[in-house]
Amino acid sequence: MSDAIEVSNLTKTFGPTIAVDHISFSVREGEIFGFLGPNGAGKTTTTRMLTGVIPPDEGTALVLGFDITRSPVLAKQGFGVVPETSNAYTDLSAWENLMLMGDLYGLPRSRSAERGSELLDTLGLLERKDQKVQAYSKGMKQRLILAMALLHEPGLLFLDEPTSGLDVQSTQMILALLRDLNRAGTTIFLTTHNMEEANRLCHRVGIIRAGKIVALDAPEKLKTAIDRVHKIEVSFDGKVPGDAIARLEGVISANQTGDKWQITAENRDAAIRSLVTFSHQNGAKIVTLNTLAPSLDDAFLRLTQGAHP
Ligand SMILES: Nc1ncnc2c1ncn2[C@@H]1O[C@H](COP(=O)(O)OP(=O)(O)OP(=O)(O)O)[C@@H](O)[C@H]1O
Ligand SMILES: [Mg+2]
Repeated sequence: MSDAIEVSNLTKTFGPTIAVDHISFSVREGEIFGFLGPNGAGKTTTTRMLTGVIPPDEGTALVLGFDITRSPVLAKQGFGVVPETSNAYTDLSAWENLMLMGDLYGLPRSRSAERGSELLDTLGLLERKDQKVQAYSKGMKQRLILAMALLHEPGLLFLDEPTSGLDVQSTQMILALLRDLNRAGTTIFLTTHNMEEANRLCHRVGIIRAGKIVALDAPEKLKTAIDRVHKIEVSFDGKVPGDAIARLEGVISANQTGDKWQITAENRDAAIRSLVTFSHQNGAKIVTLNTLAPSLDDAFLRLTQGAHP
């Protein structure tokens, strides 16, 4: 598969702030790529450079094979954007906004109308299509913006935190549509700080912190690769020498909370074997033993809360 987006050394500085610091990555054709990071990490700045809104200070981005700085018009014909802040005119109706978008892309009115009705129907807005956007709720507005981004049937879609602040219904509607679009072949670049969303939706995830990419992999791989230190929770039916647990093979540390021991282990398998032998030797039965899987949240926090470079 070829690359839909190819980013090399992309950099943007605002005064003293290096918002995006020489980042390089690619997004494969047909994948849902999650771009994750905390507030101020550089997600929106990256998205704005990739979509030709602001020029990079350094580096290049090939979007659908076109250099976004040199051939923005050609690139833009092939992608749609759901920006961080609404691009819908609030004093126009949803329908008028869609038709205007169609005109911008040079679509015949009949095509805009057909596609516009389809999208409004899918996104539950058809009945409200003639109402001015200022009367729309946040979720309705966001669904309209998505419809606007999809009117010209782009093969690549950029979304900057599309479900931020939305209720469950709007969120599910948007995510379901993204999944359907992807199944039909659309490449998706999704900016978010919602781990769960990225985990459920994305094929690969890039994590950005303070303008730099700190990890890039499949969500599942990211979880295990980042959190190599496993946690084990164990309890015994009698008193055991606690300091001996911390010295067992494979165990890094052991802390007691209530009747349970919280154990961090470098090698989960070795630690469990040692614990079983330990219970025999001390005549104390193991009552419970749980291994705790690392969550993507743990991974994310670990990566994004590290010391800034
Ligand atoms: N137009 C601008 N002028 C000055 N500084 C800016 C501008 N745009 C962004 N920045 C700064 O660049 C950094 C990255 O901002 P950016 O909006 O890209 O982050 P983000 O990851 O999208 O954050 P959020 O999750 O809050 O949307 C921040 O320090 C921000 O203050
Ligand atoms: Mg942002």
